[in-house]
Amino acid sequence: MEEYRIAVIPGDGIGPEVMDEAVRTLNAAAKKDGTFSFHFDTFPWGCEYYLKNGEMMPADALDTLKAYDAILLGAVGFPGVPDHISLRDLLLKIRHGFDEYINVRPVKLLPGAPCPLAGAKPEDIDMIFIRENSEGEYYGTGSWLYRDTPQEVVIQDSVFSRKGCERVIRYAFDLARKEKKSLTSISKGNALNYSMVFWDQIFEEVGKDYPDVEKKHLLVDAASMFMVKDPKRFGIVVTSNLFGDILTDLGAAISGGMGLAAGANLNPDRTFPSMFEPIHGSAPDIAGQGIANPLASVWSAAQLLEFLGHKDQADRALEAIATLLREHRDLTPDMGGTASTSECGKAIEALMLA
Ligand SMILES: NC(=O)c1ccc[n+]([C@@H]2O[C@H](COP(=O)([O-])OP(=O)(O)OC[C@H]3O[C@@H](n4cnc5c(N)ncnc54)[C@H](O)[C@@H]3O)[C@@H](O)[C@H]2O)c1
Repeated sequence: MEEYRIAVIPGDGIGPEVMDEAVRTLNAAAKKDGTFSFHFDTFPWGCEYYLKNGEMMPADALDTLKAYDAILLGAVGFPGVPDHISLRDLLLKIRHGFDEYINVRPVKLLPGAPCPLAGAKPEDIDMIFIRENSEGEYYGTGSWLYRDTPQEVVIQDSVFSRKGCERVIRYAFDLARKEKKSLTSISKGNALNYSMVFWDQIFEEVGKDYPDVEKKHLLVDAASMFMVKDPKRFGIVVTSNLFGDILTDLGAAISGGMGLAAGANLNPDRTFPSMFEPIHGSAPDIAGQGIANPLASVWSAAQLLEFLGHKDQADRALEAIATLLREHRDLTPDMGGTASTSECGKAIEALMLA
């Protein structure tokens, strides 16, 4: 029997609460399937660790994580630790260190999920965002000149390499071909006259290898408007790190809310472990109350199952989420229910094992 070794980083706030349910889902999938199992090792890294040790995770954390088949992350960030430290010194260090250059974020309205768009039906909102995840505006270099003087100047670099753009755009084209959907590139070439003109050029170049894929192109401002007014026009979407970060929160809002949105940070070459996480943060406002919605975390567990080659079990997990929404049962308060985090997770487990 195949055993997968999974590194678990529950993190801060509601991270540990939702993580328990992702682990429960994975164990249920393994039990139902019977041909594989999971071994989990949990690492107590995050803001509490930072306050005790002066670092979000140990200096050799990546060496430790390298030995695992995949990483599950809850959420990081908490009042008392600046967000740029909690984000950069844990999440971004792993994404960059393991060259997880693809961020996959499904934006799919399941029947029964709350949607703020008047008249929108599930078939209208069914897209997959492929966000560049290794460079762009989050590269993390720049300068801070004349600090604390009236002449103070900050420069934040955004880095777009040919290799970085080509590989994410090619990944998106391959997915569009496989899913038989259109591919929309979202950029901003009219204002960002280097980075985004370059991005557009590479989209054109790579697109020549995919004559069978319907290609679309939108400026990011128009794209955000169309996501609200006409979401049906999107199938597969490829965009930069920053635009993808922002637009996928909008995507989450139109497809059931933050409690339902999952994201996979993939190293498609499988040289390093990939990392799976809900896209929401640590939600300090509801942490410790046992009411956090675990469905985003369960969905990220489904993404992990699919990445490991168990699409049938991934589909079962998604079907379990869909069942709770359709039957409007065992849902947490953000979805209009009264269930606790663990009651919701146990309902998913029961459906997975049925
Ligand atoms: N990937 C990550 O780890 C990640 C992502 C975003 C923000 N953060 C960090 O999280 C902290 C809080 O950030 P924020 O408040 O901007 O975003 P957030 O996603 O934590 O919360 C935004 C709102 O959504 C609600 N919410 C989020 N997840 C929920 C869930 N599973 N169930 C029910 N309600 C949920 C929260 O209660 C809150 O009202 C910050 O420190 C931030 O840096 C981390």
